[in-house]
Amino acid sequence: MVAVLDLVTFLVVLKSACCAQPRPAQDKISPIINMQLDSRKKMLTWTYTRNVSHQECTIDTPTAYSATVNPQVTEDHTYVCTFPNSVLHRGANLTVNVTCDGVVFLQVLTFANPGREGSGAVNFSCLIYNVRFMNCSWAPGPAAPADVKYRLFWASRHEADAECVHYILGPTGTRVGCHFDQLGKPQRTDNYFFLVNGTSRETAIPFLDFTPFKAVQIEKYNPPRNITITYNQSHHIIRWEHPEIRFDLSSHMLYYELHIQTPASSAETNRVFQRGQDPNVYLMPSSTTRAKSAFRVRVRYMYNRLWSEWSPTQWFGLPEQDFSGALVGPVVGTAALSALVLKFLCKRFSVRRKMFPPIPQVKKEIAKALMPTAGVSDPSICTQEVAWDEGHPPPGPQDPEDVVTLEATC
Ligand SMILES: *[C@@H]1O[C@H](CO)[C@@H](O)[C@H](O)[C@H]1NC(C)=O
Ligand SMILES: *[C@@H]1O[C@H](CO)[C@@H](O)[C@H](O)[C@H]1NC(C)=O
Ligand SMILES: *[C@@H]1O[C@H](CO)[C@@H](O)[C@H](O)[C@H]1NC(C)=O
Ligand SMILES: *[C@@H]1O[C@H](CO)[C@@H](O)[C@H](O)[C@H]1NC(C)=O
Ligand SMILES: *[C@@H]1O[C@H](CO)[C@@H](O)[C@H](O)[C@H]1NC(C)=O
Ligand SMILES: *[C@@H]1O[C@H](CO)[C@@H](O)[C@H](O)[C@H]1NC(C)=O
Ligand SMILES: *[C@@H]1O[C@H](CO)[C@@H](O)[C@H](O)[C@H]1NC(C)=O
Ligand SMILES: *[C@@H]1O[C@H](CO)[C@@H](O)[C@H](O)[C@H]1NC(C)=O
Repeated sequence: MVAVLDLVTFLVVLKSACCAQPRPAQDKISPIINMQLDSRKKMLTWTYTRNVSHQECTIDTPTAYSATVNPQVTEDHTYVCTFPNSVLHRGANLTVNVTCDGVVFLQVLTFANPGREGSGAVNFSCLIYNVRFMNCSWAPGPAAPADVKYRLFWASRHEADAECVHYILGPTGTRVGCHFDQLGKPQRTDNYFFLVNGTSRETAIPFLDFTPFKAVQIEKYNPPRNITITYNQSHHIIRWEHPEIRFDLSSHMLYYELHIQTPASSAETNRVFQRGQDPNVYLMPSSTTRAKSAFRVRVRYMYNRLWSEWSPTQWFGLPEQDFSGALVGPVVGTAALSALVLKFLCKRFSVRRKMFPPIPQVKKEIAKALMPTAGVSDPSICTQEVAWDEGHPPPGPQDPEDVVTLEATC
């Protein structure tokens, strides 16, 4: 889409305002001609009528800092500035600043996204799943005409501005998403460039563009695999394997959430967060596990918020014989010990939080869920009984961004 030159203005700034001998008339005429913006490539081009000394170009958009770059020149003497990280759909001012025979010329191209306001796509998001698929989705804008037909284009290392092949339709037949099954060979540095525009018989539809999507950050992993729980008289040893993931990342970039639920009688729900390691292991002292308990785990990339689904729940517990002669004493002792451990756990959170600053959005949700509860230092809250709701982890008193390792608590 080669952009319309909505409005080109230029300013001439005379360096020495007076006193110099009269200059030839052409000195006051801007040497910049044919200024054009390709809004899809985010590329500004122009040519000169005279030689210039200094030159630079700048983009101003409503929601970002302005960016200045040095122009490149092509073989046919066209000058080019590209702004791959800028978002143009809210409009932009592009300025070329050159010095020619000691005179500074500024020429501004004002770009406006054509089409009826509010008819473009909104709420765009994408996620990679099952290692090799990607789905993107959006919603029609509030002022979208009934016959709107959105089109999604994407560019990557493998594809240059290809249109979506498998559109996903909403209930009214409007295109509201795209399914990709050909993502090409993965590379950790992959960036995807998306654009949603559209057509309608009623009106032009404004396009929607974005800063590049970093592919590693939009992958939703499969649940952790091959979970085993063994018992060695003092500990339950829980092991699991990393899921298969699309990009070649160090295991430390994976972030696990463990849920360990012990029976209702003991009313304990334990949530633990830990970084990926080789192998993944969590030790559960048998003092904290008195009978049949449940374990499940989920995983995400350290720097996104897309959790995998939970792994299937695994049951474990102390072998029967350990309870056959159960006395009141040891039971009370164990309960007291777990309360102590939990209290200690609770106290550690503030320290851990500093080491792993929470991601604001996640924290907000959790904070909401926690609102009705009292201070975190009360061990009774740590031990509150919460039922597992499929897909929805119970709201725990622990911040999800906190990392608690067994080594730190026992
Ligand atoms: C620009 O300068 C080059 C040499 O630096 C010269 O060959 C060329 O003719 C000049 N062009 C104009 C338009 O003055
Ligand atoms: C572009 O320049 C015009 C005129 O100076 C100004 O009103 C407008 O806000 C600018 N737009 C952006 C995106 O900076
Ligand atoms: C244009 O470039 C000149 C020379 O580098 C610089 O002094 C001036 O501040 C620039 N003007 C703008 C508006 O960027
Ligand atoms: C877009 O998302 C926002 C925030 O999640 C929501 O309030 C709004 O209703 C959504 N708009 C459409 C058209 O789905
Ligand atoms: C992705 O889209 C396809 C096609 O509509 C659908 O079958 C699949 O369930 C979607 N997957 C996810 C994870 O959204
Ligand atoms: C939408 O974008 C594509 C790719 O840049 C372009 O070929 C097409 O002409 C655009 N459609 C409209 C209606 O602007
Ligand atoms: C699961 O783990 C066990 C024990 O570590 C191992 O023998 C087995 O090969 C693993 N299975 C898979 C599918 O990785
Ligand atoms: C059980 O395994 C853990 C971790 O390897 C170890 O620290 C502990 O000493 C073992 N306990 C017994 C009784 O072997």
